[in-house]
Amino acid sequence: MALKVHDPLFAHPSESEFAQILDFYGIEWDYEPASFPTEYDGERVVEMFTPDFYLPQMDLYIELTTLKQSLITRKNRKLRRIRELNPDINIRLLYRRDFHRLMAKFGFGPLGASETPVLDRVLFGTGQIAIRVGELGREISTDYDGKDPVLVGVLRGVFCFMADLIRQTSVPMSVDFMSVSYYEHDETTVKITKELDIDLEGRHVLMVEDIVDTGMTLNYLLEYLRSKNPASLEVCTLLDKKARRLTDPELKYVGFEAPDEFVVGYGLDYIEEYRNLPFIGSLRVDAGDAANKAK
Ligand code: IMP
Ligand code: MG
Repeated sequence: MALKVHDPLFAHPSESEFAQILDFYGIEWDYEPASFPTEYDGERVVEMFTPDFYLPQMDLYIELTTLKQSLITRKNRKLRRIRELNPDINIRLLYRRDFHRLMAKFGFGPLGASETPVLDRVLFGTGQIAIRVGELGREISTDYDGKDPVLVGVLRGVFCFMADLIRQTSVPMSVDFMSVSYYEHDETTVKITKELDIDLEGRHVLMVEDIVDTGMTLNYLLEYLRSKNPASLEVCTLLDKKARRLTDPELKYVGFEAPDEFVVGYGLDYIEEYRNLPFIGSLRVDAGDAANKAK
């Protein structure tokens, strides 16, 4: 069962996403570092406002909003009041759809002014992934105690997950990789482009995948691995895009259920890009359509 864990530091998931995007671009931030009076009764402060973020490199306070227009108007009024009371302050309200553009404006990240931003939002944050991978590692350690399993990864999308997963396990094991590609004009036909080096005969094999989408790749590879006569054969996938399943191989370990969107980061690519994102994000629909053809 997929776990939804949000970083407890943040009041809202979008704040956590914003923090991760800042981290990715190497921008320092403080979360809710200061409160500003917005209303006085004589000398007494009767109302305060606490912006979500402060970016010291830019001397900029940021208040994120995903809220309704009526609430945005109220927030805007408060921000105006803060500016009146603190004329030197640099503070702005940031709509969710704008924050990529803001990053680009400050010269950070891949989104040049003329380019369309394609990264839509963070689906699974760095901390969230680490927690879940830890849980999977512990489960696998228990289930494979004394079995000396072989973990077989499918390159290249799986390399981040595999690297983290094996370091969260505590039983002796071997690791091997294979690589596949798809025949042109038929994205459901798989061909093996890198063979295994370890003999799987009589071994307990755990196949490790980055993402199961239609299930066609997995279906093909399980058949192939079964022909090597392993003692047992199970699957561990970081992401399960259930909505698009065409064949339904049993997935013993699943990190997260993924929405029916094209996802990138943490090893997963869009035409070889975005593998180095430390979180898993989704691409906008227009890019995602193209991406489906590019895998
Ligand atoms: P399937 O054969 O349709 O299940 O596709 C599985 C393979 O396609 C995965 O191992 C990935 O390499 C790739 N893939 C499927 N969906 C995505 C995605 O959303 N982002 C990146 N790669 C994907
Ligand atoms: Mg793959």
